[in-house]
Amino acid sequence: MSQPTIQIALIKGDGIGVDVTEASFAVLEAALKKTAGPRLSYNEIRAGAGYFSETGDDIEPRGEEAAGRADAIFLGAIGLPAVRHADGTEISPHLRLRDRFQLYAGVRPVRAYPNTPRRLSDPRAANIDLVILRESTEGLFYSASVHGRSEVIDNREVRDVLRITRHTSEKLHRFGFELARKRKQNGSRGILTCVDKANVFTSMAFFRQIYDETAADFPDIQTDYNYVDAQALDLIRRPWDFDVLVTENMFGDILSDLAGGLVGGMGMAACAEIGDETGLFQPAHGSAPDIMGQDRANPLAAILSGALMLEYLAQKTGEAALLDSAKLIDDVIYQGFAENRIRPAEFGGDMGTLAITRELLSSI
Ligand SMILES: NC(=O)c1ccc[n+]([C@@H]2O[C@H](COP(=O)([O-])OP(=O)(O)OC[C@H]3O[C@@H](n4cnc5c(N)ncnc54)[C@H](O)[C@@H]3O)[C@@H](O)[C@H]2O)c1
Repeated sequence: MSQPTIQIALIKGDGIGVDVTEASFAVLEAALKKTAGPRLSYNEIRAGAGYFSETGDDIEPRGEEAAGRADAIFLGAIGLPAVRHADGTEISPHLRLRDRFQLYAGVRPVRAYPNTPRRLSDPRAANIDLVILRESTEGLFYSASVHGRSEVIDNREVRDVLRITRHTSEKLHRFGFELARKRKQNGSRGILTCVDKANVFTSMAFFRQIYDETAADFPDIQTDYNYVDAQALDLIRRPWDFDVLVTENMFGDILSDLAGGLVGGMGMAACAEIGDETGLFQPAHGSAPDIMGQDRANPLAAILSGALMLEYLAQKTGEAALLDSAKLIDDVIYQGFAENRIRPAEFGGDMGTLAITRELLSSI
């Protein structure tokens, strides 16, 4: 019996987004072929700052609807600092996709690979392996400019709202406890840390209250709390002690860049944004205008995001080969670093986007 084809909405976007997307799909296809997995078919959707410069729109007509019809959405990177709306903000249609498809669960794994730069001298930094679960539809991003929800009083005052709802927080915390449980089955410690600012903000005390209510259903998972400022300190002081951190949108945005820096740089920072109906997968980095067009981008964040997409699709479709492909990709990246066959220019090595991609293809 022939296997179903899986539909991917593909938004390459701007700058290095284009190169790392192409690298990611070359590797995904090789892995799927190796594991006799289903075929991927693509619907490419034009969007981003380059598209906006040409057309005045940030995404092609009916692009959002088309993205919603796919089994999953993959995005390279969007935005160029020189291209802006009249209010000074950048082109960010991807924030609207998060909102439209309610992609509340932003999963950002942070893992130290062998032979990658240790930003911390403590040898325990070799054991960093945590996940930041960033709520991705509300919090302070609820009034991100692209949604038009800021309150402009006059030219002396502007207000942005931090919104926490029970509906989203219940789903988020449940997702966090389930993720901690899944990781525990694979040898992690089974701890979910609630990162908030419940000492100061009523909305954050509410976020923590819903965390506590949800925890009652997960007695096998250890609860833990940290205020976000202390969490920033602890990510430098003892990042190896954490397993899964669940947090508000803006806090997660900032902490995940910090955490990406701990294990090398943004070129390792993968990201999955998951909702009830679909998921969007993208490297956590931007379009990196400082290195675009130079074959210097590290494609691994995009490739690891692709592996997260295969894991998600395995769960969605029940196709075990998708999970095998995701695992194969993780393994060849880990082994490639361990055997010093992957040496990204981002970390002072001699390999750009194409060389890293070729190495992974030959390992697969
Ligand atoms: N989700 C997204 O699409 C997204 C996320 C962040 C920023 N942006 C946009 O990207 C543009 C640039 O933003 P920025 O400079 O603040 O962030 P950035 O992530 O693009 O770059 C930050 C730094 O990390 C480096 N870097 C990033 N990805 C890398 C990779 N794969 N390999 C090697 N080095 C890498 C860059 O060279 C730069 O020095 C802006 O227009 C911003 O709005 C988009």
